[in-house]
Amino acid sequence: MENRPQWGTRAGFVLAAIGSAVGLGNIWRFPAVAYENGGGAFFLPYLFALLTAGIPILIMEFTLGHKYRSSAPVMFSKLGKGKEWIGWWQLAIAFVISCYYPVIVAWASSYSIFSINKTWGSDPGTFLMSDYLKAVEVPGEFGGLVPGVLIPLIIVWIVALGVLFAGVKKGIEVANKIFIPLLVVMFTLIVIRALTLDGAVQGLEAFFKPDWSKIADGKVWIAAYGQIFFSLSIAFAIMLTYSSYLPKKSDITNNAFITGFANSSFEVLAGIGVFSALGFMAAQQGVPVSEVVKAGIGLAFVVFPQIINEFPALSQLFGILFFGSLILAGLTSLISISETYIAGLQEKFKISRTKAVAYGGGLSALCSLVFATKGGIFFLDAVDYFINSFGITLVGLIEVIAIAWFAKELKNLQNHANEVSDIKIGAWWRFSLSVITPIVLGYMMFDNIRTNLTSDYGEMSREFLFNWGWTVALGAILVGVLFTLKRNKKDEVVSSTDKE
Ligand code: PHE
Ligand code: NA
Repeated sequence: MENRPQWGTRAGFVLAAIGSAVGLGNIWRFPAVAYENGGGAFFLPYLFALLTAGIPILIMEFTLGHKYRSSAPVMFSKLGKGKEWIGWWQLAIAFVISCYYPVIVAWASSYSIFSINKTWGSDPGTFLMSDYLKAVEVPGEFGGLVPGVLIPLIIVWIVALGVLFAGVKKGIEVANKIFIPLLVVMFTLIVIRALTLDGAVQGLEAFFKPDWSKIADGKVWIAAYGQIFFSLSIAFAIMLTYSSYLPKKSDITNNAFITGFANSSFEVLAGIGVFSALGFMAAQQGVPVSEVVKAGIGLAFVVFPQIINEFPALSQLFGILFFGSLILAGLTSLISISETYIAGLQEKFKISRTKAVAYGGGLSALCSLVFATKGGIFFLDAVDYFINSFGITLVGLIEVIAIAWFAKELKNLQNHANEVSDIKIGAWWRFSLSVITPIVLGYMMFDNIRTNLTSDYGEMSREFLFNWGWTVALGAILVGVLFTLKRNKKDEVVSSTDKE
């Protein structure tokens, strides 16, 4: 009966979970988010969010995966009639992320090669938009494929799908056992080098200087929760899928704490590395650190090339290490996102893993072509923004409410986790999930809708954002409903064990 694939070792599972969690968000998102939301003072709401939402949800997803041993849709259908769509919806959003995430990995691949000759020249901003991405003038146009992006993108997909084809133990586990230690070594070298640059101290001062006046601002708390959700890869059924491959006797709670703290340690490490480098650049240009702080694409593909341009020695090596880290961090996250819907397709349609990888991964690779066009960066930016401000909060809210309130599963999950785990969870865990998290996420939802109705995002018009964002969001719900309507062959078996 049990022919479900399993992790070979505990370390394999933990490294895969860390591989999913540690991604682009750690390197290019956390440092700027912390800086803008109180610097050193941000650690308070951040830690609070980690302990009341991040780790509790991680424990919940690990337990659900371990207990139900299935992908999200089947897991939700086992929890009760009418819930399967939630799982499909999660997978649909994971699918959307897997369409643009590899494109950034592709850019990083190009840039690790550009590091050798500093192909970006003296004006990396113009190089990125005009020479490399060949970006269209008006957001919303496609403008044809860009070969310079397409080729690395194809390579990224070959690697990711190759790992997924090889399976859980021989593919995902092996890849993470190699990539994650390598990533830690490479990134540590970057941080050490950055720390020894002139101006690093000023950068660190800017990063860690606490602005306690921000603590009373609701936005700062929202930023902390948002960062924790994205960073820990929770609410998209990723961690649930990975833990569904755990052997029956494995520990849950301890593994969740290890994953959570490893991810946060990597974020703080990235903050130190990035801000040391920013301090160096500010010193070179004779401007305050605040003037060079950036996040996301701008940080990685404009500011870092500038930093590399100013480097005293061995700049090529620094560039290759930095973009190489982005590749490894992104690739391991991409593999985890894709695995969620591959597992779901495989279970629902009773097809082989090979077919599920070919259909699911293949379709995602096809969709990713949209982001390799001349208009790609604008679509990418819009979809990413939308996923971050609505996707994560809404899906997280629905997941927590469905489990805690509707299925009333928390007590059962608590018992299940405590049976196999070193660290025992209790009332604080149930309270975090049933009260604190829904309140915070509910408020975040409300606040996001309000800001989006009243302001534009960057240069993009509200119309562009809404057309694209809502099309994708509604499309995802539609997919969820359609997949649910397709009856599962095992439905009879499932419902006979249901108490309804
Ligand atoms: N956790 C990843 C990061 O920090 C991002 C991610 C989110 C990956 C959701 C998969 C799914 O970058
Ligand atoms: Na992360």
